[in-house]
Amino acid sequence: MTPEEVVAITAKHTYGTWRFQKNWTPLQVIDAEGCYFTDSSGKKYLDLSSQLMCVSLGHKNQAVIKAIVDQATKLAYAAPGFATDVRAELGKLLLEVLPKGLEKFYFSTSGTEANEAAIKIARMYTGKYKIISRYNSYHGSTAASISATGDPRRWAIEPSGKIEGVIFAPECNCYRCPLGHTYPDCELACANYIEHMIKNESNVAAFIVEPVVGTNGILIPPKDYFPRLRKICDDTGVLLIADEVMSGWGRTGKWFAVDHWNVQPDILTTAKGITSAYVPLGLTATTMKIADYFNDHYFAHGHTYEAHPLTLAPAIAAINELKSKNLIEKAVELGDYLNEKLSNLKSKHPSIGDVRGVGLFFAVELVKDQKTLEPFNTKEDKINGKPLFVDKMSAEMMKRGVYLTAWINHFIIAPPLIITKEEIDFAVKNFDEVLTIADEAL
Ligand SMILES: Cc1ncc(COP(=O)(O)O)c(C=O)c1O
Repeated sequence: MTPEEVVAITAKHTYGTWRFQKNWTPLQVIDAEGCYFTDSSGKKYLDLSSQLMCVSLGHKNQAVIKAIVDQATKLAYAAPGFATDVRAELGKLLLEVLPKGLEKFYFSTSGTEANEAAIKIARMYTGKYKIISRYNSYHGSTAASISATGDPRRWAIEPSGKIEGVIFAPECNCYRCPLGHTYPDCELACANYIEHMIKNESNVAAFIVEPVVGTNGILIPPKDYFPRLRKICDDTGVLLIADEVMSGWGRTGKWFAVDHWNVQPDILTTAKGITSAYVPLGLTATTMKIADYFNDHYFAHGHTYEAHPLTLAPAIAAINELKSKNLIEKAVELGDYLNEKLSNLKSKHPSIGDVRGVGLFFAVELVKDQKTLEPFNTKEDKINGKPLFVDKMSAEMMKRGVYLTAWINHFIIAPPLIITKEEIDFAVKNFDEVLTIADEAL
């Protein structure tokens, strides 16, 4: 097929996700290696967002590829009722790297499914049905996980595509506090309000939270926020679910974001970086206390592809790569370097409202006015298919050979953990040039 045919058939006969289908002309990717991918014309792009914040080891990691090939040759599939060596081996590794206390695992094939399982498990275990989530969040695309999603992707399927019983709390966003406070004078009013919600709602099974919010802005809470949440959940008997689909696997400079505050969730969900996205794998990890409940109660959940050997073998390889190449330590070091470069851009460009990040997980948020924080676009613009200013700038970056994802008013900078300082310099130099377009639009 010619490149034109590939694009035409893809756009006409396959769905482009989260968008109006009209005018979708996807770029054809034909190859990828390290931090770069190549289009059908042979042009190379530096991948500053690890595709969808998931290819953490970069492209063509030989250890992960070998694990897939070896497993495909040895045992491509076994029904979930069987034990396999990869299932046990991955289980052992997870006990080493996950936050302490998470000891029983359910394997699915996406972050969405990991959260669906978490919500179901929490409801079965507690016998309660309400779930508290936060407005600035994304937890997945199917009924329960989209219902728990605070961002406007949820609006489009209301009310028919939702489960009942999900309510929303204010997010922890110290740049744009939803309660109009300033930290630390706020005394964590956003966390305290969650306690107020739990006490006034009754019947709350779980509170689901991205420890560092991903797509919705790389929001990093102050250090006392998570310990406070843990205490509120303990005091009220509500389960704490940490959604680490994006923030896990070294992205923030720790194995998991909750490790920054030494907080142990009751359930942790993850996907993406667990296999560096080479194959789809989701994980729902629970405490033994929750697991033990199901010794004498029916565990009413399952998938044909649960614990699929082809998904587990590359996870083992990916975790071992993170360890043996010290990539989590490198994320801290390179994160400091990136932070310095991005902070320099902020002092130079009036269109930058905020630069925030941890590890190799950064957001650059644009504003029309640094004092009023007036944004370029609204959530309604996104869901109504209006062209967004940040997308125009991402397109400019693509022309210059840098792939950078954006969401409403900010860019998400989450490169593969193997990126070099030279590659960061190249990306920042181009970003600097493109940001002048935003400055001119003020
Ligand atoms: C925090 C978070 N949770 C859940 C999901 C859903 O994961 P998936 O797209 O693998 O279903 C995502 C996806 O971006 C995510 O970022």
